[in-house]
Amino acid sequence: MPIETGESGRFWLLSGARSSYAIGLTPDDGLLNLHWGPRISLADAAALADEPVPAPHAFEGATDGYEEYPAEGGLRFARPALSVRGRTGDTVVRGTEWKFVGQGETAGADELHLRFVDSLLSLEVTLHYRVRAKFDLIERWVTVACQETAAAPVELLRADAATWTLPLRDEWRLSELHGRFVGESQLERGTLMHGEHVYGSRHGHTSHNHLPWFALDDSSATEEQGQVWTGALAWSGNWRFAVQLLPMGRVQVTGGAGGDESGLIELAPGASYESPVFAALYSEGGFGGASRAWHAYQLAHVVPKAEQLRPVLYNSWEATHFDVSEASQRKLADRAADLGVELFVVDDGWFGSRRDDRSGLGDWTASVELFPDGLRPLAEYVHGLGMQFGIWVEPEMVNPDSDLYRAHPEWAQHYPGRRRSEWRNQLVLNLGLPEVREYLFGQLDTLLSSAPIDYVKWDFNRSFSEPGWPGEPYPERLGLEHVYGFYGLLDRLRAAHPEVAFESCSAGGGRIDLGVLARTDLVWVSDNTDPLDRLRIQHGLSQLHPARVASAWVTDSPNVITGRVTPLKFRFVSAMAGLLGLGGNLVEWSDVELDEARDWVAAYKKLRHVVQQGELYRLRPPGSGLTAVQFVRGDETVVLAWLAAQEFASAPGPLPLAALDPEARYRDLESGAEYSGALLRHRGLVTGLSGDYAAGVFHLKRVAG
Ligand code: DGJ
Repeated sequence: MPIETGESGRFWLLSGARSSYAIGLTPDDGLLNLHWGPRISLADAAALADEPVPAPHAFEGATDGYEEYPAEGGLRFARPALSVRGRTGDTVVRGTEWKFVGQGETAGADELHLRFVDSLLSLEVTLHYRVRAKFDLIERWVTVACQETAAAPVELLRADAATWTLPLRDEWRLSELHGRFVGESQLERGTLMHGEHVYGSRHGHTSHNHLPWFALDDSSATEEQGQVWTGALAWSGNWRFAVQLLPMGRVQVTGGAGGDESGLIELAPGASYESPVFAALYSEGGFGGASRAWHAYQLAHVVPKAEQLRPVLYNSWEATHFDVSEASQRKLADRAADLGVELFVVDDGWFGSRRDDRSGLGDWTASVELFPDGLRPLAEYVHGLGMQFGIWVEPEMVNPDSDLYRAHPEWAQHYPGRRRSEWRNQLVLNLGLPEVREYLFGQLDTLLSSAPIDYVKWDFNRSFSEPGWPGEPYPERLGLEHVYGFYGLLDRLRAAHPEVAFESCSAGGGRIDLGVLARTDLVWVSDNTDPLDRLRIQHGLSQLHPARVASAWVTDSPNVITGRVTPLKFRFVSAMAGLLGLGGNLVEWSDVELDEARDWVAAYKKLRHVVQQGELYRLRPPGSGLTAVQFVRGDETVVLAWLAAQEFASAPGPLPLAALDPEARYRDLESGAEYSGALLRHRGLVTGLSGDYAAGVFHLKRVAG
């Protein structure tokens, strides 16, 4: 039973395969976290629930750092998850004083819903828990409802999705994924110091600056051993995590939608707010074990059609930029098909007046000049070559120089009377407006019906700057409404065109999170396609997300972002650690390069089921010396290794592998060489890599019998 209720009806034990989570009510209906970690019994939880409420300490709140969902008000000084502003008559009321009113009617075997009511404001707060036992993961979210009987609306200044409480330890270490445009998802790990470490996004989208993820350990976890507590938020708008080491040594992470406390939503009587899910898991397998649990959870419960292997893609952006023509795309498609590519994507520049980034966004019909008969002839040509056909869009944006903006300047987000800041010559549409959502659905639905389109790359190339909503009494809600509008559009389009796959892109990795991944099939990780930088970015991204969603292209050398010159093999092996794609100007590749590329595409197809659906072991992190990852699926294992630069005279030594059966023998499917599992694990695989920008691929299979 993943969820058990204590005999008193006032404490609960949530159990995963190897973990437990216990919460209990105090006599005055405060809800405290009792345990999060290794498995305990209901009797253990009862003993914890029987312990006296923590004793107060002068100037500190007695339950600070213990509360499951700290509300503002009272003797509390930790950062609140819930902060409200209501009214009684003409008087402003702050704070929340709730009473427990029971478990929700819908409580099922793996879900728990605990309801509390603040009678002064007629505010109902429900804490939701869903146990994903196999992954030792709990999904938490909150609903806050202003009851029908309320005398006045209630403003939610903040309503986090969850607060996670860690056990007491002498020391804590925080891991986070920070970044920037062309430098996303970089892992940073350091000692947590007293105070609050706050990170998130005020960009309106998830942002390049941080993935909504944390991992905490007591500074002793390693890649494959030790206790790790880790969480991730399923939200694609503004968000904030506050990781706190409180004065009395307690550690909590509170997080949810919204970049600050300036106001999330105003609830009229009868209205309610449902937060996004904030999921978290506990692992005893170190950072690698935690990542594998995250990956398996996403493949099982988040990513649509995750069981399907992703095709090898070609994207024309780096080859043609805005210089799109039917002839140039056909030429690239011929080359791509000849290399074994399975999906051909035309990037920006195919629609309206879009010949550069100054015009056309908002007008989602094929340029009459470039495609006089629409996209169908090109799409059919691509299909005729045996590939699927994909297209780029950026629906949430508008160029002032577009038919859409000329017709509806009021549809762009803006503060009345203030400048409309343009970035990349574009403004953000107000997806809170139903007419904007209808327009976009109509345009995209028509587009997808106009030609055999199998794939949509959905881009988002600027952050919010003046998220105003003239005429709306509570414009602050735009932050939420934009994301609801975006999700709603994707959901409607997926329902209307179920065979179409969607890619989430935001100038590279500016919108990667569990929320968008519930409605897109993959993500564009970074506009930085340099194969060496990508190793670091992929290392970071893999802390949370599986290779099955991480698109990676082989592009030209020197790299357009870094200027680095690398051999084709190094570029391919780097991209093969994710969803292999090609993005170079194939028309300019030599016959020798094309032959090599054809072989690599064929090689990837033979092992992609292991990469896309296997379990990841990060054998050696990027840095000096050898970098290596291993994917394991059933009897097969794939090792990808890179040596950016040989140091001194000696080539790297053998690479010990993970997760192989020491009793078994393994055959290298390329060379036919056979190895003992025990030796591969303990002595290691001889990669033979030496020199600079060397890379190797090893596909091993357990020998039958
Ligand atoms: C940003 C994306 O990350 C690129 O791949 C490309 O699609 C451009 N936008 C097109 O404008």
